[in-house]
Amino acid sequence: MADANGKIAEKTFYLETFGCQMNVHDSEKVIGTLEHEGYRRVDLEEDAGLILYNTCSIRDKAEQKVFNRLNDYKKLYAKGKRFGVLGCVAQQEGERIFERAPYVSLVAGSASYRKLPEMLVQIERGESRITGLDDRQTDETFETEFTARSNPHRGYITIIEGCDKFCAYCVVPYTRGKERSRTSTSVLAEARRMADAGYTEIQLLGQNVNSYRDSEGKRSFAELLAAVGEVEGIRRVRFTTSHPRDFTRDIVEAIDAVPTLCDHVHLPIQSGSSRVLQLMQREYTRDQYEERIAWIKAARRPISMTTDIIVGFPGETPEDFEQTIDLLAVTGYDAVFAFKYSPRPNTPAITMADSIPDEEKSTRLQVLLDRQREIQRANYDKHIGQILEVMVEGRNEARGQITGRTSQNKTLNFTTTQPIYPAPGSYLPVRVTKSFPNSLVGEAVI
Ligand code: SAH
Ligand code: SF4
Ligand code: F3S
Repeated sequence: MADANGKIAEKTFYLETFGCQMNVHDSEKVIGTLEHEGYRRVDLEEDAGLILYNTCSIRDKAEQKVFNRLNDYKKLYAKGKRFGVLGCVAQQEGERIFERAPYVSLVAGSASYRKLPEMLVQIERGESRITGLDDRQTDETFETEFTARSNPHRGYITIIEGCDKFCAYCVVPYTRGKERSRTSTSVLAEARRMADAGYTEIQLLGQNVNSYRDSEGKRSFAELLAAVGEVEGIRRVRFTTSHPRDFTRDIVEAIDAVPTLCDHVHLPIQSGSSRVLQLMQREYTRDQYEERIAWIKAARRPISMTTDIIVGFPGETPEDFEQTIDLLAVTGYDAVFAFKYSPRPNTPAITMADSIPDEEKSTRLQVLLDRQREIQRANYDKHIGQILEVMVEGRNEARGQITGRTSQNKTLNFTTTQPIYPAPGSYLPVRVTKSFPNSLVGEAVI
């Protein structure tokens, strides 16, 4: 971008990310792409020539956060800064963003990021109303060798993009386009490159990671999981999010067979009532979900289970809600991400009758969280006395503790008698001495 004297200023950008892990990882690829195009990332908006938000529209609150920010643009635009909105709000609202926030130059959904280098050139030329919105029918995924991963030990790999499930409440199929998988050859090549670069933990990502279909037909999801776990140098493999309908028994068999696959499955149920699941168009019943839980519980290693739940979906009766509460104990989740139902544009549920008042949604949410806290208290307590392997994440100076994460994805804060603190990314055994509903405390065993 040229300044008033025609001098080319240094190309700098600021990027802030909202939303899920898919967005976090998309941002790592966007950052890598921009850096390859000669841009430098800065930490403060005021230092940047180009300001980008990678946005989320899964619930009303997430979307509002973004629009509140866009209102501040006028002043900054006058100083020569340019703005781009990326991600799910960009795709959902499209060109309407230019009406609500006239200082935005670029609006681009995730299916168009392959074209970022061209869109950057358009911004540099001073063009306005640049869009990347028409790509949701694409068969292509966003693959780049310029990913700027933020952590040197643990990294994401997206294996499947988009979603074809069209749950009645959800914006994702509209914001991320149709389901499309990478080839397992390409995923494995990326896993090997990461292992060569020193990564030891890989997390495979997808809105429904287990709906993966290898377009070369070489590997099922479970086979790909196992193959990533067998890449030399990789010590931990995680995968998220699994959809219950496509959750097959061979995934549990792979975890049993390959020690590097972590002892954790995130399997969103959304509701414990088959009647509500049908209204949500989830395409499984409670019984089918419980069958999958039984497979997971029958594994040779104890596998931690976590889930997502929506309370107050239109038509959810107190009896339906009771069934969700009942399921918490049946499964014994180690974490639950629970949300009040939020009506979203374009989705079928927005026109459904029998909406639940917000106050009632809040009450149900609190009942659920209180019940779940007790379950977690008991679950975490069972670890006392066990020796668990952690990957070291960092230090909490104030408490004099080191923070690690177990294979089950639990936080374990511990102390060591060694004079030198273990480095982030290292693995070591820790004896658990104390528990809370969300974390464990222990001492390194050396
Ligand atoms: N693909 C995943 C989850 C994607 S979104 C799956 O199918 O499980 C992450 C979570 O946000 C969902 O599991 C759901 O619990 C929640 N969510 C999605 N849309 C929502 C809405 N309209 N209101 C409240 N919560 C919602
Ligand atoms: Fe949304 Fe359902 Fe797709 Fe998950 S499976 S992303 S909840 S439409
Ligand atoms: Fe949000 Fe889009 Fe992810 S709506 S949760 S950023 S797929």
